[in-house]
Amino acid sequence: MSLPLHIGFIMDGNGRWAQKRGVPRKMGHEAGAKALEKIIDRCRTLGIKCATFYAFSTENWSRPKEEVDALMSLFDRYINELHRKISSGEADVYKDVRIRFIGDLSVFSEERLERILALEKLTDRQTDGLCVNIAINYGGRNEIVSAVNRFIQENPGVPITEKELSLRLYTDGCPDPDLIIRTAGEMRLSNFLLWQSAYSEYYSSSVYWPDFTPKELDVALDAFSQRTRKFGNVAK
Ligand code: FPP
Repeated sequence: MSLPLHIGFIMDGNGRWAQKRGVPRKMGHEAGAKALEKIIDRCRTLGIKCATFYAFSTENWSRPKEEVDALMSLFDRYINELHRKISSGEADVYKDVRIRFIGDLSVFSEERLERILALEKLTDRQTDGLCVNIAINYGGRNEIVSAVNRFIQENPGVPITEKELSLRLYTDGCPDPDLIIRTAGEMRLSNFLLWQSAYSEYYSSSVYWPDFTPKELDVALDAFSQRTRKFGNVAK
């Protein structure tokens, strides 16, 4: 079976999962964090090289304050927990896993940024296994514009190339995603990895993200292995 090197995940349906159970939306996000850990573990054991998870978009700030606060508090707890688990060597799930946070992180408090950097530093030598990118305050358009602006600043008056732009994206170091999975039956990109997904295969799973198990991932990977990728060429 041909496996993707890089998978992007649009973790959708936490709210509907909670609604179906008559519990607050934030419970859906909490359940989503548990599903995330199981999927990271499955990606790691399968030998996937990169997995990018869309956790909070540049547009998600427009959600009710209560939900945004609950998500930020969940991210803080998740970062602390990960730091504790990895530094104590307690959990196998993060063995050889490199964690990166991608997006415009400049909006976050110094305290949150420090915790993020400490976690990244703890895992930054684990370059042989799975690289996990957690996208927070991430937007594909914002990413492209900031890459272009960085290039202009570094090379005034020089026309930018596709290669130079790619080198300045948050996902630098990871190949373009071969597969993008979105849960909850939705079929939109929602500003996720716009540049990188030019030739990605898409897969829509009908289950809500908290119910997206490693088994569901295997089903998606099976579907992926049956796709014929042409990259603009004809089928060979
Ligand atoms: C979209 O579902 C989901 C989000 C905006 C948040 C994603 C966050 C997690 C999965 C939490 C775990 C992440 C980390 C890094 C700990 P939705 O709320 O829009 O669902 P709905 O469309 O059913 O309302």
